[in-house]
Formats: sequence, structure tokens, C-alpha cells
Amino acid sequence: MPFNVEAIRADFPILQTKMAGKQLVYLDSAATSQKPKVVIEAIRDYYVRYNANIHRGIYELSEKATEAYIQSKEKAARLINADGIENIVYTRNATESLNLVALTYAAQNVRKGDHILITEMEHHSNIVPWQLLANRNNATLDYIKVDVKTGMLDRNSLSECMEKGPVIVSITQASNVLGTINDVKVIAKDAHSHGAAVIVDGAQSIPHMKVDVKDIDCDFLAFSAHKMFGPTGLGVMYAKSDMLDKMEPLFGGGDMIMTVTLKSHTWNGLPWKFEAGTSNIEGGIAFGAAIDYLNGLGLAAIDRHEKSLTEYALKRLGEIEGVSTFGPDLKYVDKRVGLVAFSVGGVHAHDIAQVFNDNGIAIRAGHHCAMPLVREVLKRDSLARMSFYAYNTKEEIDKAVDAIEKVKKVFKVC
Ligand SMILES: Cc1ncc(COP(=O)(O)O)c(C=O)c1O
Repeated sequence: MPFNVEAIRADFPILQTKMAGKQLVYLDSAATSQKPKVVIEAIRDYYVRYNANIHRGIYELSEKATEAYIQSKEKAARLINADGIENIVYTRNATESLNLVALTYAAQNVRKGDHILITEMEHHSNIVPWQLLANRNNATLDYIKVDVKTGMLDRNSLSECMEKGPVIVSITQASNVLGTINDVKVIAKDAHSHGAAVIVDGAQSIPHMKVDVKDIDCDFLAFSAHKMFGPTGLGVMYAKSDMLDKMEPLFGGGDMIMTVTLKSHTWNGLPWKFEAGTSNIEGGIAFGAAIDYLNGLGLAAIDRHEKSLTEYALKRLGEIEGVSTFGPDLKYVDKRVGLVAFSVGGVHAHDIAQVFNDNGIAIRAGHHCAMPLVREVLKRDSLARMSFYAYNTKEEIDKAVDAIEKVKKVFKVC
């Protein structure tokens, strides 16, 4: 079936609007995706027809809200091939999911002198929690190096780091700067053979490709609803049941308990033991609608479409003098997700983004919450990035190319 981008675009009201007086060209879905009408409607429907707290009320509205919230977890479990909702903990975002693993499982298991292993291409969300933990528990944080030429992980560095016998390996499945897709299945196998627990940051992979937690065999997986057509304020921490069983909850309060006495308490079952207090009910319900929408388009079709856009963007940007792109090159486009970071001569990325804005084009500019990668590895102050989703077109990339020509003219780049 051909991918009907025009029909998809009609589902997104914001894509019919203007920015800076021009037809909006939204090329920043890696930061957050736009939302289809069905997701916006799901939020409205909840508030208009069945707003009530969940788990608590013995009345129809509350039962309906609880059912919709649980259905959303069932959909999330099916999406990643988890066993069931007991493995799906809802958080605020991928950042909170990664912090939750660091503050619970890792805090309870990392000892003085242990090694924690991440990579140089991580988002701050998968760096800072481990720096904090390493400091607190007197552990050492090691980084698998990035091969700047290929934009992929350096194999020698990977094996050297594994030889140190890390107890935690936390790695992104797709880089938000390089676009690189890491072979997390192979890395997880290696890590497990050294006795490590494996955490995958799926923030940039889950929205764009089929991911199967059983196939990867990761112990934890983190991602955010807002990057996959869903609402902000809702993230997922997937974990294997035996991990969750062993872990103490981070927060105490309502919903996470079974019984409370003046002296003590017992915990609720999974996943509720990790969800204290009133949940983001509208977020959970809208996320269910987002997953339905995503499945309706088909992850394989989305992946194919984005790869063809990425290939086209790499080709077109490669033809412009003074423009550099980052990450795996054209022949490895199958190892990339749909985003391209680029620079134009020595022009600051904020200046590039300003010219793009004036032409109605939204892109991301700066360090992309990956300062170690951008500054210390790629040796750049800032980069511009265009990122794609199901609703983007080659014509929009052509508009971005025209905007780059304007940047060159304004800032006199030869
Ligand atoms: C690779 C990666 N990990 C984690 C995050 C954090 O996601 P959130 O801000 O939704 O917590 C992002 C956000 O851009 C990301 O790109």
C-alpha cells in the first residue's frame, strides 16, 4: 500500500496553519510530534463524558475512566511485545523513566567500585541520572566511544568497556543527533553475558520502528508518548516482572499500597506499586488513542517513509557546498532514524533556525540535550537538525534546502 501522506496530513489540524505568515513546515518531530485529531478528541471526550478518578470510584464514570486507562496500558504492552500491563509503568516522560531505573533498581544494586556503562551519544536524560548515581554510590561511569567518521559506536571501545564487567549498561536505541540506530540486541546479549542489567532508551526509536522487548531481551525500556502522536506528560518505563518484583518503589502514597497501618504498609501489585497518587488519566487515555493511530498507519510503513525522506535529505544537503551532515552516510541510511543534523559553514545554528522560522520552517538548533556528543565528540558549538515523521514530504525538504541557500546568502557562506 502506498503511504498516503496527504490523507495523513489532513488528520493534523496544526499542519494546516501558518508560522511567521508562511505555511507551516514542521521538521521538529524528534523534539515532539504533532497530534492527530483522534488524540485531541480523546482528551476532550474524557473530560466531557467520563471525567473521574481511576481505581477508586464504585460508580460508572470512574469505572469507565479506569477501563480506558488500563486499555491504554494493554495497547502499550502489545506495542513493544511486553507480557502485560504489569510491565508497563507510566511516568511523566522518558527522562523520568530513566531516572526511576537509576533511583530504584540501580540505586539498590550498584556498589562501590562497580562500573556503569553508557555511550558518548546519549541524551542528557541517559547521562545525568548515571552521573548522579555514580557519585552517590562511588561507582565509575564509562562511555563507549563514537566513531566520528561513521557516526556509529566504536566496536573496540565497546569491547574494552564490556571487559570491565559493568553492572548496568544503559544505551540509546537511536541517537537524537546522529540518527544512528544501535544494535541494542547484540549489546544486550554481550552485557548480559557480563552479568549487567540492560536499559534501553527508546525515546527516538519506539515512535518510528517496530521494537520488541523480548527480542532485544532488555531489562528496562524508556520512552515518551509525546514523540509518537501522544500527549505530553506521559512516559513509559517498561521492565521485566522479576526486576520490578525485586525493586522498592520510589514514591509512597495513594494507589501504590495494599494496606497501611500506623506502623507500616504493604505494596500494591505491579505496575501500580510504582505509580503513587492520581495518575495522568487524560494522558494515559490519549496515549491509547495515539497508539491506535500509530498502528493504523503501520510502523513498517512509517519507517520506510522516513527512510526515503532521510535519504532524500542527505542527498540534497550533500549537494550544497558548505553544508555538513552528521551520522551514518547515505549507504547506511537503513541504520538511521528520520532526522538529519547539519551545519552551514560557521553559521551558528540559532541563526540558521531563525532564517528557517522566517520561512515558516520549524527545526531544532543547539546542543540537542547531548552536549558531550556535540561539544566534546563532534567538536561543534551547536548544530541544526531537521527531523521527520509520517506527515512530512519531500517538498518540505525542498523548502528546507531553499532556506539553507538563504542562510548562505545572508551569512555570506561560499
Ligand atoms: C534519545 C532521547 N532520550 C531521551 C529523551 C528525553 O525525552 P523526554 O524529554 O520526553 O523525557 C529525548 C528527548 O528528546 C531523546 O531524544
